[in-house]
Amino acid sequence: MKLNTSFAELKQNTLFKLLSEILEEKGMKGYVVGGYVRDHLLGRGNKKDIDIVTLGSGIEFAKALQKKLKGAQPVQIFKTFGTAMIQWNDIELEFVGARKESYSYESRNPTVKPGSLEDDQNRRDFTINALAISLNRVDFGTLIDPFNGVEDLKNQLIRTPLNPEITYSDDPLRMLRAIRFATQLDFTIDPKSFEAIQRNVERIDIISKERIVVELHKILETPKPSVGFRLLEKSKLLERVLPELTALKGVDEIEGQTHKDNFYHTLEVVDNLCQKSENRWLRWAALLHDIGKASTKKYKPQTGWTFHNHEFVGSKMVYSLFKRLKMPLNEKMKYVQKIVMMSSRPIVIAKDFVTDSAIRRLLFDAGETIDDLLTLCEADITTKNPKRYEKYMNNFTMVREKIVQLEEKDHLRNFQPPVSGDVIMNYFGLTPCPQIGLIKEAIKEAILEGEIPNAYDAAFEKMKLEGKKLGLNAHA
Ligand code: CTP
Repeated sequence: MKLNTSFAELKQNTLFKLLSEILEEKGMKGYVVGGYVRDHLLGRGNKKDIDIVTLGSGIEFAKALQKKLKGAQPVQIFKTFGTAMIQWNDIELEFVGARKESYSYESRNPTVKPGSLEDDQNRRDFTINALAISLNRVDFGTLIDPFNGVEDLKNQLIRTPLNPEITYSDDPLRMLRAIRFATQLDFTIDPKSFEAIQRNVERIDIISKERIVVELHKILETPKPSVGFRLLEKSKLLERVLPELTALKGVDEIEGQTHKDNFYHTLEVVDNLCQKSENRWLRWAALLHDIGKASTKKYKPQTGWTFHNHEFVGSKMVYSLFKRLKMPLNEKMKYVQKIVMMSSRPIVIAKDFVTDSAIRRLLFDAGETIDDLLTLCEADITTKNPKRYEKYMNNFTMVREKIVQLEEKDHLRNFQPPVSGDVIMNYFGLTPCPQIGLIKEAIKEAILEGEIPNAYDAAFEKMKLEGKKLGLNAHA
């Protein structure tokens, strides 16, 4: 891989020049370190968070900078970590004094002592994240690369600066980070490193769920998340983090009949979907759309393999999974549940003859999620038979066209009953009672079946008719 090894533009950077001046004034040393340097070399655009390491107090340095940096927000100090942060325009500057860290077995929070730049680079996760650029006048803009990080960038390799056993055991989150970087950057994890991950998987249990989820989000937000999920599975991290997915692995055979491996199928669906949508929660829905299949799997001689009701079971599992991982139990979760719950509906429609009433019902039940639901269903077509693929895709195109036509007429996406309960009560002189619900339901059914349009006058006539059937008369 070709790297951008020119630091000319960094040397012209007014922010870095100012940092250098203040370091000089204070008689301190300082370096840009970590992700910013890595991404610069990879030509991955302007990273908006910049980590600065100083020899001496990072907090003192941040305070001095804040006074001179026009438009900078007040310094935020994180005493427990000995770090400081300044928000400046859209840039987040993080400051830390170079340190030596020693970890205890039970926690990922280290005991910290001041150290040299080398100590600081040693404690970092990967060689490609341990690169530093000097901000000091004597060698301003020089790259400091004690672990051949540049070579590893060229060779697209994830490797730890120290013995990987130590690096991962010190901070087990790094096992997920290794897999996340491999997925994001399309890099390989050094085999020794991967073996160390395999040996340390149970250490992931000391990591907070929130941190784990950040990494899962990042893997899911890459163009090809299957790379990461395969590595998670291979390392056995996945069964600790998302056992619902590993439960989908494997193919059973009874009487010569098999079903597909739902784990690898799911990964294909996720990759397909990621070509079409950036929506994080739709990506989660794709990842989880089949999780109900493990517990509902049955073989019957007449029908073969079935996963009866797996969508309902899966949508219930979404709740427990989100809860376990401390993910939001809000409208995002409900959205994922809804998509999982409805994930087979359009497929059933697209396989059969597409009737208007089936589409109206789909539109009514899916509401605002209809487009996303169809995107998932299209991604779910993983047949390798080109004829069949084309046929299913055409059917979905037809479903989409019908939706547009029916929507123009009936506006069912956010269905509001055209005749309200109040109108019904007034007309028949009723107080709240079950008949009102029955009439409303009959009107809704008539609209979905296409017997009447979704409009007030037609619904009012239908109301009169239904009232009559229930023995009700117009109120004088
Ligand atoms: N780091 C580490 N171990 C961790 C987290 C971070 O050693 N568990 C170090 C790495 O040197 C990393 C730097 O801290 O480069 C900054 O971490 P972070 O901001 O989380 O990641 P970046 O490398 O900046 O990359 P990205 O923003 O893409 O996550």
